[in-house]
Amino acid sequence: MANPSLLILAGDGIGPEVMAEVKRIIGWMGAKRGIHFDVSEDLVGGAAYDVHGVPLADATMAKAQAADAVLLGAVGGPKYDKLDFSVKPERGLLRLRKEMDLFSNLRPAQCFDALADFSSLKRDVVAGLDIVIVRELTSGVYFGEPRGIFKEGNERVGINTQRYTESEIARVAKSAFELARKRSNKVCSMEKANVMESGILWRDVVQEVHDRDYPDVELSHMYADNGAMQLVRWPKQFDVIVTDNLFGDVLSDCAAMLTGSLGMLPSASLGAPMANGRPKALYEPVHGSAPDIAGTGKANPIACILSFAMALRYSFDLGDEATRVEKAVEKVLADGLRTADLMGPDGGTPVSTTQMGDAVLAALDESL
Ligand code: NAD
Ligand code: IPM
Ligand code: MN
Repeated sequence: MANPSLLILAGDGIGPEVMAEVKRIIGWMGAKRGIHFDVSEDLVGGAAYDVHGVPLADATMAKAQAADAVLLGAVGGPKYDKLDFSVKPERGLLRLRKEMDLFSNLRPAQCFDALADFSSLKRDVVAGLDIVIVRELTSGVYFGEPRGIFKEGNERVGINTQRYTESEIARVAKSAFELARKRSNKVCSMEKANVMESGILWRDVVQEVHDRDYPDVELSHMYADNGAMQLVRWPKQFDVIVTDNLFGDVLSDCAAMLTGSLGMLPSASLGAPMANGRPKALYEPVHGSAPDIAGTGKANPIACILSFAMALRYSFDLGDEATRVEKAVEKVLADGLRTADLMGPDGGTPVSTTQMGDAVLAALDESL
């Protein structure tokens, strides 16, 4: 049988730097575990714009559609800030999400014990934290029409539209309930039903899906602004949070700091099942291209490494190997290794991106 296929789109800024460490782990899986992938690489974001004049070539889109899983680094950067909106690097990523129909974006925020003092919150608040934000990823204000900048009398008006259909809400709610059943059986849905009609519909549909198919799961509803406050007040009250595209974007960056650094947060963007029964999927760290540190060897590769672990679990049914990678990360952190973003109360000397990769590989060797 052919090896499963993996398309790597490293992108811009620190994207290629953190992806380099993932490539070494993919190599390790082949050499030490006999798990081989048919890996191909292509361009996305500014890197694709530089070559093709668009942030995602049609041929790359076709490769992504055909792959068993896509791994993405990050896109964007100041070099591209002035480009026309239609060809900005971020449009490449949004096209991938939309055309692959990756509606369910899992963003786990887990606080490794070794990092409990590195969060900007007190140890007690974050120690042992393990929550997942399920962010709707293919609709809402990111994609709603009408949109644009228009002339209205003597001034310009910028318009984006928050739009959700019942079926879009129902399918992401279902994925949150399914996930909750594998965890602590608890879902909190966040919207602004107090001020937005789309929020009223969101709340209704989530409740309907619950009452019809998931009455065993504990469901609560919260206004998203309160949710943001509760996330920093007492995040351990949550298990699975389900929310829309924009609230999910903001809440997940907020949740990142509960783990010590944005450089720690992985994500899986999942769609409908393919012929092989696994979901169409793209895996990427939650962070961006970090232009302020790109090229300095300071980037933390853990978010990208943990995104690959999610690929092992969700796309390749290799949960044990995913756990092996997660445990290796946990071990290097417990051993005191820190990239610069994790320089906290105990000071110390930071390691480089590559040194962090070396340490994870050594911990993987030890796991055999
Ligand atoms: P960012 O996530 O790139 O960086 C925010 C801060 O976190 C920076 O100080 C950065 O140095 C730090 N940081 C992020 N990842 C890190 C890592 N792995 N290790 C250490 N430190 C890390 O967000 P931004 O600065 O707002 O955006 C920069 C560019 O990235 C923009 O063009 C934005 O659109 C893009 N972006 C892309 C993605 C993506 O590709 N998925 C996500 C977010 C932002
Ligand atoms: C993210 C990013 C993206 C988003 C951008 C780069 C399109 O911030 O993945 O969190 O807003 O979804
Ligand atoms: Mn974001």
